[in-house]
Amino acid sequence: MNIIDYVKQRHRQIKELIRQLELEEREEERGSLRVKLADFLAAHIVAENEVLMPLLMKHLGSSALVFESSEEHTVVAFMLDRLVAIPLSHHTFSARFRVFKDILLNHLEVEGYDLITQLGQVAPEKKLEKAGKEIELVFCNGLREGWEKLVQSLLSAEKAKTKEKTGKKVGKKAVVKKATAKATKKSNS
Ligand SMILES: [Fe+2]
Repeated sequence: MNIIDYVKQRHRQIKELIRQLELEEREEERGSLRVKLADFLAAHIVAENEVLMPLLMKHLGSSALVFESSEEHTVVAFMLDRLVAIPLSHHTFSARFRVFKDILLNHLEVEGYDLITQLGQVAPEKKLEKAGKEIELVFCNGLREGWEKLVQSLLSAEKAKTKEKTGKKVGKKAVVKKATAKATKKSNS
């Protein structure tokens, strides 16, 4: 299967998992579905970051939509982390779920239609086929790792990237923060 059909299929499966979680009323089944969705989505984001994003960058260049899609992966990973962190019965769960769903569905819409269609028009078929095999492999490895490890590595990689880009500034701020904390501790003791 080429990467275009692959991504479309995965997006359909993610939407189906969301639908099942919304419809399910039994507490235990909802818990299992939430973990299933988290594992599936985290592995999918990692696989897209590793295989789809470089392909989009190469063939569509520095398009705003490509950057937006990459940003949304980080936001979805952050929200996924928050969604699994609280009990299903928690009074904020529905609110978290609704915001998570809105952002995710919008992301799947733009990436799954606009970007993928453009990619299909410009990338050679052989390359799309090869990428389809690669992304499947990364996804399966991700599933074995589990959502917790994947989400943490996605978020810490993003933090490291931001630090790298704004290195000097962050470094200075960190020094000031450390000095302030030290002074506060001293004055309190
Ligand atoms: Fe995506």
